[in-house]
Amino acid sequence: MSRDDTRASLLAGSPQLSVGILTADLGHLADELARLEAAGMTMVHTDVMDGVFCPMLTVGAPFVAAQRSGLLKDVHLMIDEPLEKVSMFVKAGADMITFHVESAKNPHRVLQVLGDAQHADDPSRGIIRGIAVSPGTPLDVLPPLLDELDYVMLLAINPGWGGQAFHPGTAARLAHVRELIAGSGRDILLGVDGGVTKKNIGEVGAMGADIIVTGSAIFDGSGAVLENAAFMRAGLPTR
Ligand code: DX5
Ligand code: ZN
Repeated sequence: MSRDDTRASLLAGSPQLSVGILTADLGHLADELARLEAAGMTMVHTDVMDGVFCPMLTVGAPFVAAQRSGLLKDVHLMIDEPLEKVSMFVKAGADMITFHVESAKNPHRVLQVLGDAQHADDPSRGIIRGIAVSPGTPLDVLPPLLDELDYVMLLAINPGWGGQAFHPGTAARLAHVRELIAGSGRDILLGVDGGVTKKNIGEVGAMGADIIVTGSAIFDGSGAVLENAAFMRAGLPTR
């Protein structure tokens, strides 16, 4: 399956959830991933934070490599200057690598490097190349990059802090990026990440994103992963 095929299959499955793993019981990572699969989830989202681009330090490429399941590995890099570091995540078997436009001196170059990369498990597959954009960043950074990317992920919170509320300007920003994507003539995935809860999943689902990242709504410490995942999925529109 080429990168275009992977993107097409994700678009065909839209909208879908990508589940943030960091609030899971990481001492039982394999079991938690198996629970997500049993719940019908297709993607696992890993938040990589370096303590420089954002205040928190989380996990790196070895944690991504340790994920063994049928779920697509969706890696969200919140790290300073990702150019030299994306290859570690490619080697770790990432299917999708998304970095912050604010974090790279030359985001176009990072996208080119990702474009030349082959999937660690299957050289015929490419990596889905994503750009993440924080709430305070103007969206006019995107048009010059649209030829080289597969995925635009808008953050609805600022990177690195838990427990933030979904930013109310996000709906308008998603609609704007949807227009930019339509104008590009390319099939680019649109995603939203942060602050998606059981309370607002219906509202967020209606904002038109293809991929909705949700972490603590599913891994909420109660162990009710199946129930939480079913609840969140039921909140998505059928397209
Ligand atoms: C924030 C991260 C998000 C966040 C999602 O920096 O990118 O992925 O952890 O978690 P919830 O869904 O709990 O806001
Ligand atoms: Zn994330």
